[in-house]
Amino acid sequence: MNYSIALVPGDGIGPEVTAPATAVLDAIGDKYGHIFNYVELEAGGRAIDSAGEPLPKETLETAKQCDALLLGAVGGPQWETLPGHLRPERALLGLRAGLGVFANLRPAALLPQLRAACPLKDEVLTASNAEGKPGFDLLIVRELTGGIYFGEQGRSADGSSAYDTETYSRAEIERVLRTGYAAAGSRRKKLCVVDKANVLESSRLWRETAQALSREYADIETSYLYVDNAAMQLIRAPGQFDVIVTSNLFGDILSDEASVLTGSIGMLASASLGGPAKSGGSAKDGATVKDGSAVLGVMGMYEPIHGSAPDIAGKDIANPLAAILSAAMMLRYSFGLEREAAAIETGVNAVLDAGLRTRDIAGRSGGGTEKIVGTREMGEAVINALESQ
Ligand code: IPM
Ligand code: MG
Repeated sequence: MNYSIALVPGDGIGPEVTAPATAVLDAIGDKYGHIFNYVELEAGGRAIDSAGEPLPKETLETAKQCDALLLGAVGGPQWETLPGHLRPERALLGLRAGLGVFANLRPAALLPQLRAACPLKDEVLTASNAEGKPGFDLLIVRELTGGIYFGEQGRSADGSSAYDTETYSRAEIERVLRTGYAAAGSRRKKLCVVDKANVLESSRLWRETAQALSREYADIETSYLYVDNAAMQLIRAPGQFDVIVTSNLFGDILSDEASVLTGSIGMLASASLGGPAKSGGSAKDGATVKDGSAVLGVMGMYEPIHGSAPDIAGKDIANPLAAILSAAMMLRYSFGLEREAAAIETGVNAVLDAGLRTRDIAGRSGGGTEKIVGTREMGEAVINALESQ
């Protein structure tokens, strides 16, 4: 099958990590008989320099015609002094809204190979963990196209005060909850709604909506936490969580917290999913979300969560694994290629088992022999691991 992928390498280490990710996709294509066609597009700082705006119309319009989008990272110090609407980060918000990718999946799990990278003690990692051994494996589903990020904002006439508004409709809450339930259904069947319903009216609507919807998902255990408590529980007993569903702002904050627990932001992938693919693509039109591991026909934007890391750009030391794992999420969620996605994940596991480490994850295994490699070598090792599967 042929798939068209909008490729936005972006700024900083972005191009260095998307290159190994597309190389891994091509290796998967060779092995399983798929063809991935990339349409390279500009966004972020690069687009500001070449087109004068972070998200040129053409980028968004072309991306909409593709089956999925793979993004490296955007941003850098040279663009930080620009006014808000011209900053590289606007490209991310514009792509999210423009592609309608309302559900952001951010998995965070403790890999045994990187145990020593997690700042938590064994007894904390064992607390509330059903398996009784140190670890956690959770998925944050963050609402991505609503709430305070997109609400009305402004300043008073004299500039002495400013405001941002959090608005959610029942429909917006319900659709992201459904994605969360679908994911929970293929995981450990637990879903925790995180809000601030003791204070915020919009959070009370979240809770009401979730309580009503939970009746449709009787096989999933639904629970509720206020966001302050959730922030505490994440470092007190992360093993208690399976799927967390929350608003745009709370999800932004909690997902950074969760990333520290894995000890390695360079490993974390993400998927942002919307409704069924819009046009002529190869994704199956109109297919429904059946379970979290095969969300067919869904427009998706895939990106590592580590950002552009300008300080290490161009040095061949960035960790490409988050971008490679994001490509695996693309295969799973947008294309329904579960076997191929799992092959990439197995390959990544194999290179970690073999002791290969980029600098950011070196010295974290608590023993064993490690070999420090660069970005390119890490990507090639994953491809070799695929070929020997
Ligand atoms: C993220 C980032 C973005 C966000 C920024 C760069 C706009 O922090 O993807 O989590 O706040 O959503
Ligand atoms: Mg963030």
